[in-house]
Parts: sequence; structure tokens; C-alpha cells
Amino acid sequence: MPDAPVPQHCPTPRELDDLELLTTGALAPLTRFNEPGSPVTLTLPPDLADVDVVELVDPEGLPLARVLPGTGDVESLTHPQYGAFRRLYLSPAQVRERYAGRTFVPLDDAPYDAQLAALRETGPVVLLALVGHGTPALSAPALLRATLAAAAELPDAAVVAVPASFHGHDFLQQVVDNYAAGDPVVVPGTADRHSGRIAEIVRHDQPPPAERGLVLFFTGLSGSGKSTLARALMDLVLEQTDRAVTSLDGDVVRRHLSAGLTFSRADRETNIRRIGWVAAEISRHGGIAVCSPIAPFAETRQQVREMVEDAGGAFFLVHVATPLEECERRDRKGLYAKARRGEIPEFTGISSPYEEPDDAAVRVDTTGRTIEEALGEVTDALRNALFLDVTPLS
Ligand code: ADX
Repeated sequence: MPDAPVPQHCPTPRELDDLELLTTGALAPLTRFNEPGSPVTLTLPPDLADVDVVELVDPEGLPLARVLPGTGDVESLTHPQYGAFRRLYLSPAQVRERYAGRTFVPLDDAPYDAQLAALRETGPVVLLALVGHGTPALSAPALLRATLAAAAELPDAAVVAVPASFHGHDFLQQVVDNYAAGDPVVVPGTADRHSGRIAEIVRHDQPPPAERGLVLFFTGLSGSGKSTLARALMDLVLEQTDRAVTSLDGDVVRRHLSAGLTFSRADRETNIRRIGWVAAEISRHGGIAVCSPIAPFAETRQQVREMVEDAGGAFFLVHVATPLEECERRDRKGLYAKARRGEIPEFTGISSPYEEPDDAAVRVDTTGRTIEEALGEVTDALRNALFLDVTPLS
């Protein structure tokens, strides 16, 4: 009988960074996931927790390593081979071979003017760009572009990318020490100002709030007024700004992007993650996405928030908190009556849960108020957060 195939799993971006460090020796003496007390953890889905071996693949399915869930031991199959600036990702051993004896400079932000001035006097340096998940102040490619721009201004500087994700300063220190292996380490001085090409890179990567991609996410019961508010807000954006805006309304999405999905918990989560994925991409390009699904589960909303923030966008959650009694009284589509008669199973608020958010930027109840009044609360909050300056016509 042929062997059963080894089950595959695609880790999170943070876990993939940790995997790369583990397999290049950058975390020595640590060599495995899930050592007691170590922040370098790997969470496998419950159905894989008891198997002997799992193949870890990158998001495109390339097998990177095998892991033994019992011990956390990893065996490297291959290192990632593509991605922006891949050629700069070197292992500690490769760095020793090329750059032993230099001064090592860890960077989690684009170098500032005074830091560059100090580095000009330092002699040959290796700029270690700490580009792992959650570590740099900029996106990873922008930090590398800025570091390369800095290197071009220094007499003798090499740039190395290190995917050290953020597990605290001691962790980063350990990684840097493994690269330096006893050579001097200089932590750059305090932040002051950026100028020239570096300033341009930072400005482009970290635009001011009013130019940042934005996901406006309305959540609430069916009939709460989400779609009405979302549509009115879209109109204001189109009338009063130059921003590009896309609507991802719950009912509309279910007619194309999510056609065929049911209202089971699993399908609702899939639906919301799809909306989140598209919205995150829109925000990556600096656009505005206005989403208005029920999105009844806190965990899925949190996943959307993370997707958007990882894409560099701002996530602005609006809880349309019109109470169930009012939604049911309106019952514009007649769905509550059907749900009460048992004709629609798993109806939100009746026979399926709605988890109220505790992380909304704004909470609006539309009961007994005009659209403009309710919308005004949302636009006030958006203006205060400096994300968007629009005003409902009174
Ligand atoms: S979600 O739960 O997955 O976020 P979504 O916003 O896409 O829901 O769809 C909700 C819309 O589908 C409601 O406005 C209503 O018109 C319709 N609908 C049909 N069946 C249900 C149901 N069982 N629960 C909630 N809404 C339903």
C-alpha cells in the first residue's frame, strides 16, 4: 500500500517568519517550536494535533519544512525562494562568511539623519533590517528600500534582511547577537528626522490618515440600517472627496462573491473573511471599502481587522446597534416574520447569535432618527480620527 500523504498546513505570517529563523540557525540555541516558555510557537488545527508529522507549506503551497507536532522539531525542506528582496535574506552562517568583522546595526525603522551621520564614522557596517511580522515601523519592502537608500550614502555598508517577528526586545537581541557572533553591535541613536529619498519612502509607505486606505465596516442585525447608512456614506464620499470607494454590502456580496454560501456559522465566517480579504486589498491600494454585512461573530471581525491592518489600511468598525425589537418591527423584507414562523433557520437574532462588538469606533442606534442624524455620528468620529472629512447635508 502506498504511504498516506503527509498532511499539509500553511502557518500564519508570524509563524512562517519564525520557521525561517529556526531553520537558518538565527534563533540558536533554539531549534524547535513550542519549547516551554518560548514565544516561538506553532498552532496546528485540531485535526492535525495528533498526527506524527505535518508538512508546512507557504501560502502558494511550496513545502518548506516538516514538523513533528509531538516535539515541535522541524526539518527544513527548502527555504523561501521568492518575494521582494529575497536575495538580501541571508542566514547567520552566510553573513559570517561574507561580513565577519564588521559592525552590526539592527534597524526596525528607516534610518534617521543623525543616525546616518553617526554611521558614516563607524567604518564598515552590516545594516540588519528587522523585517519580521510586527517588528518594523514600515512595511518590510519599504524598510528594505530605505535601508538600501541609507547604505548608498555610507562609505561601506551591506544590507541583510532578517525576518525577526516581534516577540519582545530580548528576542530581537538574541537574533541580532546570532548574526553578529561577537562582532560589535551598534543600536542606532534616537529618532529625529528623515530627509531625501528615505523621507520619500517613509511618506509613501506611511501616508497621513486622510490618505490611508480605509475600511469602514458596519456590523449589526438585519434591518438595523447598515446598508442605508453605508449607501449614504458612499454618496458623501463621492460628492465631497476625490477618494475611490467600493461597496461590499452583505446582501449584494452574497449575490456574487459569496453566491452559494448558507447561513451556517462556517459559511458566515467564510463570507466575512472574503469580504475582509477584498476590503484589505482595496485598503492596500489606498482606497476606501464600505462593508455592511451582519458579521455576527467577534472573532471573524477581529480577523478582518488584522487583515486590513496587515495591508496597511485603517479599520473603522461601526456598530449599528438598532435593537432587535426595532429591526423586527420594521421587517422591511418580511424575513423576521418568516424566521419566527420557523421558515428561515439560523436567523440572526432569532435562532442564530449576534455577538455585540466591544471594539467599535462608533455605536449608532437608528431608532427614531433620520439617516442624516445617525450618519452624522459616524462622520464626526471619522473626522475626529482624521480618516475622512465628509458632512451629511442637513
Ligand atoms: S452574515 O451573517 O454572513 O454577515 P450577510 O450580511 O452576508 O450575513 O447576509 C445577511 C442578509 O441575508 C440579511 O440582511 C437578510 O436579508 C438575508 N438573510 C437570509 N437568511 C438569513 C439568515 N438566516 N440570517 C440572517 N440573514 C439572512
